Amino acid sequence: MTKAPSALGSGTGTRVLICRGCCCGTERKHPAVDHDGQIVAISALARARVVDCVGECAHSNVVIVRSGNGPSVWLGGINNPAITSALCDWLVAGAPQPPPQVLQSRVIVRRSEAVGAGAEHV
Ligand code: FES
Repeated sequence: MTKAPSALGSGTGTRVLICRGCCCGTERKHPAVDHDGQIVAISALARARVVDCVGECAHSNVVIVRSGNGPSVWLGGINNPAITSALCDWLVAGAPQPPPQVLQSRVIVRRSEAVGAGAEHV
């Protein structure tokens, strides 16, 4: 099922793309996650958009965070209340670089970056 991107959230300088495609946000793949609650929590803290699959399904749930003119940070495995809370705490702080230690293990090294093709920005 394809979901159209939709604008959510508040007017901070931090932007977040919340993947909700074929895997991310689905009860089929992550039945214990409050997917809607995650969107509400994130969109209360940043300019958030729900987007279709961003091509990193192996890492679902994926969110992409960009603060100011900094690099986009791709995070995967945002699948439990503790990690969602850590993400929200980072957003409250303005998503400074680098992400906090608790989120470091969730940073995705995308295939295009690994081969030097460069990263897209949010
Ligand atoms: S559905 Fe999120 S990366 Fe594919």
